[in-house]
Amino acid sequence: MEKGELLYEGKAKRVYKTEDPKLFIVSYKDDATAFNGEKKGTIVGKGVVNNRMSNIMCQMLEDNGIATHLVKELNERETVVRAVEIVPLEVIVRNVAAGSFSKRFGVEEGTVLKNPTLEFCLKNDALGDPMINDYHILALDIATEKELKEMREMTFKINALLVEHFKKIGVKLIDFKIELGRVDGKIILADEISPDTCRFWDVETNEKLDKDRFRRDLGGVEEVYQEMLNRVTK
Ligand code: TMP
Ligand code: ASP
Repeated sequence: MEKGELLYEGKAKRVYKTEDPKLFIVSYKDDATAFNGEKKGTIVGKGVVNNRMSNIMCQMLEDNGIATHLVKELNERETVVRAVEIVPLEVIVRNVAAGSFSKRFGVEEGTVLKNPTLEFCLKNDALGDPMINDYHILALDIATEKELKEMREMTFKINALLVEHFKKIGVKLIDFKIELGRVDGKIILADEISPDTCRFWDVETNEKLDKDRFRRDLGGVEEVYQEMLNRVTK
């Protein structure tokens, strides 16, 4: 399958059309940004890790009844995915306080939450991806009530499957972000599951195995991306 017209270029991926209108090709870059693009850099080999790891995770989710965009890995950095209409929301799940949650609510990073939480942010870089609530989503006609319910249920199910899966490889899933898409009137997972979009802490040492090493200049960035790929591949 060949890449056609470039449909969309984001901070970490490019999306191309193909000769089949039902399929796109996603190409993962090594470019890394943080703080809404204010901090820029390169994480060598990141695109390869994120492509492989996301596909492994999507396959695991598919095996457990979650519909995802995964069709077929083409090569190290490129994957054929189902063409979707992206719902312009970032859906964030948190199991343990960290990052912006800790800042906003003054809760120490690492505090285990009584139950997993979910928050929606509007996917709009120019506005800095502001948090948005259910009423706003309905008022702005971003999704229907039925879709909101479907998105929440699906996202919590994904969380439960991921938490369980990562626990087996010695990783705590602190939080993550996903995007969902519409295809044939259904909502499916249409995003990567990678160290760019999840916080992963080692179960034994609490060592950060994700993009916080880049965001916070902790060093060893490439190494922990590779480590995560190694763990999910075993
Ligand atoms: P936060 O604590 O900065 O709100 O991030 C929560 C989770 O969402 C964390 O795992 C990183 C991920 N995330 C993204 O994937 N993209 C983003 O643009 C942001 C802000 C967070
Ligand atoms: N990817 C986001 C950005 O550059 C933020 C992040 O992952 O921290 O804006």
